[in-house]
This record gives sequence, structure tokens and C-alpha cells, in this order.
Amino acid sequence: MKIDLLTTVEYGGCSAKLSAKALQEALKVLPKIKDDRCLVDIDTHDDAGVYKINDSTAIIQTVDFFPPVCSDPYDFGQIAAANALSDVYAMGGQVLTAMNIVLFPSTKLPLEILKEILLGGQEKVVESGGIIIGGHTIDDSPPKYGLSVTGTIHPDAIITNAKAQVGDLLILTKPIGTGVTIAGKRVELTGSELYENVINSMKQLNKAGSEIMQKYKIKSATDITGFGLLGHAFKMASASGVTFQIESSKIPLFKGVYELLDQGCIPGACFRNLDLIENGCMFDNQLDYNLKMALLDPQTSGGLLICVPEKKSLEILNELKLAGYEYTSIIGRVVSKHEDNSIIVN
Ligand code: CO
Ligand code: CO
Ligand code: CO
Repeated sequence: MKIDLLTTVEYGGCSAKLSAKALQEALKVLPKIKDDRCLVDIDTHDDAGVYKINDSTAIIQTVDFFPPVCSDPYDFGQIAAANALSDVYAMGGQVLTAMNIVLFPSTKLPLEILKEILLGGQEKVVESGGIIIGGHTIDDSPPKYGLSVTGTIHPDAIITNAKAQVGDLLILTKPIGTGVTIAGKRVELTGSELYENVINSMKQLNKAGSEIMQKYKIKSATDITGFGLLGHAFKMASASGVTFQIESSKIPLFKGVYELLDQGCIPGACFRNLDLIENGCMFDNQLDYNLKMALLDPQTSGGLLICVPEKKSLEILNELKLAGYEYTSIIGRVVSKHEDNSIIVN
């Protein structure tokens, strides 16, 4: 019998994150540790931490794991690995090594499933140019899988949340709607074509996008995951002290996602993400409700959101499309801080 991994969990992928509010509350009690070798830490809500080894080398460290986000174990392994590797790519880095993080219910699920998950993960790490050098397992239900990843970067080339410049345009490299699609799959509303498109997009590495960012000496970017497009845009704009003006009509959605939203297929995490940004986000009165929810949809292994200089924007856009991110779009621009709003959505 084929086991659908989605039946093992209520919240899968990046939807399973602890809410940003709860996390901030818990972290508040920790004494602040400052060290000159620490180039990027949690202060700017960046994708990964960066530690300086010497003047030419810094290491990037990140960890990501979550419960199943799809039905098939091999796909799950690929997606979880692509998602974990993405935080190194969002910083502009190169992947060196990864360690498997495995929580698996050995008495509830056949070991065959674990083999498939690990195979999928390993293939993605190989594709990244990195090596899996170990891991850790816990017998636990429901299953969870991911990686801790170590990468490297020149200290002067680090791409962070905190360097968005007024006048930059905003480029997004993958369509939105993975959370809605998976929520729809659970209640058998998602069509097979949409499901397949979303699975393939979540498997796609942000590696080539990251290489293009390095080529153009991009300073500020992030990857879009559990906090949704607006949540991550909010973190970037806040860390940079600017406002992101986002054109909702320019945002690429997977074909079929709008229809799912219209049928009421709205992941609970959309409201959690709204809660996170509400005090610093201005929505146009005319904004379509379904579209608003799409912008808050928790993404798993989403695309890169990149701040690019306007005069290079079309060149970069075309290069990203040629590199396999065919839905890459310019979705807005960076303006100077507008009252208390980090985000304006038109
Ligand atoms: Co990230
Ligand atoms: Co992460
Ligand atoms: Co151990």
C-alpha cells in the first residue's frame, strides 16, 4: 500500500513554523552576545548566520527541517533539502557541506519511506555541489526532515536583508501559492497539473539565481518561505529602514491558485502572517481579498526576492528567466520610509 505522507500531519512544510510573534517573545529573554567575527546574526531576521574566518572567507550556517509538505517521500526529501539549501543561496553563498536531520516514526511507517526521503535529500545536496557528511536521527512522529547546511562567502559579498536601497526594483523568481496548493491537496481540491507544477517549483534550487545575484553584485535579497511574500518583504524592508511598494497585479501565482483561494482554500498561516505585518503594512482599499491572501500564503522552498538597481533590472530579469526561473517578475520598488509602513500593497 502506498502511504500518502500528507496524511501524517496537520501542518507541513514551512507552514509548521512557530509564529514569528511567539518566537520573538521567547528570544527576548536571551542576553545579547556581540562578537566582531559574527557578521550577520538574528538581529536582521536574515536567512542564515555568517561568521568571519579571515578577510577573504566567512562561513554561512543555517538549519531547516519540517513535517511532510507533499504525498511522496522522495519528493519530500528533495523539497526539504532544496528549502534548507536555499538559505545559503539567499545570502549569495556556495554550499560546502550538509548534515541530515531526521525524525522518523519507525514503528508507524515502513523504513522504505525513510530511504526514499534520504535519497531525495542527498540528490539535491549533490546537485548543489555540496556533500552530506553526517546527520542525526530521533524516533518521533510525525516524520520531519531537513538539513543543517554550511556554506562559504567572501565577507564583502554577503547579501542580507538589511541593504535594500531606495530606487531599487524588486524581483521575485518563483510564483506564489505552494501553501494554498498543499492545503487544497488535503481536501482533494487541487488538480494534478497544479500539484505537479508546485512540486517541481519547490524542488528547484535557488542556486542559479544566487549565482546571478553574485554576478551583478546584489546587496540585498531573501528567500520566500513560511512568512509568505509579505512577511519576508516586511522583514527586509524593516531591516533596511525603507518601504517596499508592491504591485499585487505583477505577482506571479501558480495557475489555479486563485481559484483555490476563491473556493475558500486559505491556510491558517495566512492569518498568522497577516498578524505579523499588520502594523506596518498599508493595503489598497480595492485590493482583491483572494490576492491579499495569496501574498500572505506560507511558501515552502519559495523563490528569491531580490533588490536590483533599476538600470540593470531588465538584464537581470532576462538572465533569471534563461536560468530556468521562467516566471521571474518585477513586482515593485523600494521607496523611502513611508510613515510607519514597511510595506505598501497596491
Ligand atoms: Co530563508
Ligand atoms: Co530558514
Ligand atoms: Co548526534
